[in-house]
Amino acid sequence: MTQLRDFNAAAAKWDEEPRRVKLASEIADAIIATIPLSTEWDALDFGCGTGLVTLQLAPNLQSVTGTDSSSGMINRLEAKIHDGGFSNVRAELCNLENGDLPTGRYHLITSAMTLHHIAEIVPLLRSLKTLLHPGGWIALADLESEGGRFHEDPTGVFHHGFSSEELSAMLAEAEFSSIAITTATKVVKNNQSFPVLLATAQSI
Ligand SMILES: C[S@@+](CC[C@H](N)C(=O)[O-])C[C@H]1O[C@@H](n2cnc3c(N)ncnc32)[C@H](O)[C@@H]1O
Repeated sequence: MTQLRDFNAAAAKWDEEPRRVKLASEIADAIIATIPLSTEWDALDFGCGTGLVTLQLAPNLQSVTGTDSSSGMINRLEAKIHDGGFSNVRAELCNLENGDLPTGRYHLITSAMTLHHIAEIVPLLRSLKTLLHPGGWIALADLESEGGRFHEDPTGVFHHGFSSEELSAMLAEAEFSSIAITTATKVVKNNQSFPVLLATAQSI
């Protein structure tokens, strides 16, 4: 089995990398531009890390829960919620790959740059679908197929990005509908440009 990545070790300095902060912000912008968010909606940000996307989406939603399997990441998000007074944001430690599910039902589930760290994606998508209200949205942002050039350290990287066709097929297999794939943005790393796809779908 491929070793898992130690995100706890990365959590403290996660936000110090400008490339990550810019990418998360551009992904949040793409989600806001693509999905008709409502301040009556409750959202879940899966693999939220330190909450870069979670916190940017929060003003457009009734509530948003950031969930992550790394206690280091969740601790960072909890500190940011406390320091920033984000009253409609909460953080929940949870590893969905282990079959654990966060509490609550949601109108929207988002995920940014987490899918490539998930070995078996379709079972995870099926689990996430059970958390959605009927008609609820999912928005998954991740690297377009990149041939293994993006990560210098391949630990815990199960997919070298995804093609539009792969994302569509996985969402269809998990019985999502209204599937659409767009290019959200691109991330530049080591002088190379990597497109980032945004897959959206609904639970009807
Ligand atoms: C590349 S980081 C992205 C973090 C954040 N979404 C961002 O854009 O800054 C991937 C995150 O997914 C989390 N993660 C990986 N596998 C997970 C799992 N099975 N369940 C929950 N979170 C997971 C990691 O702990 C890490 O915080």
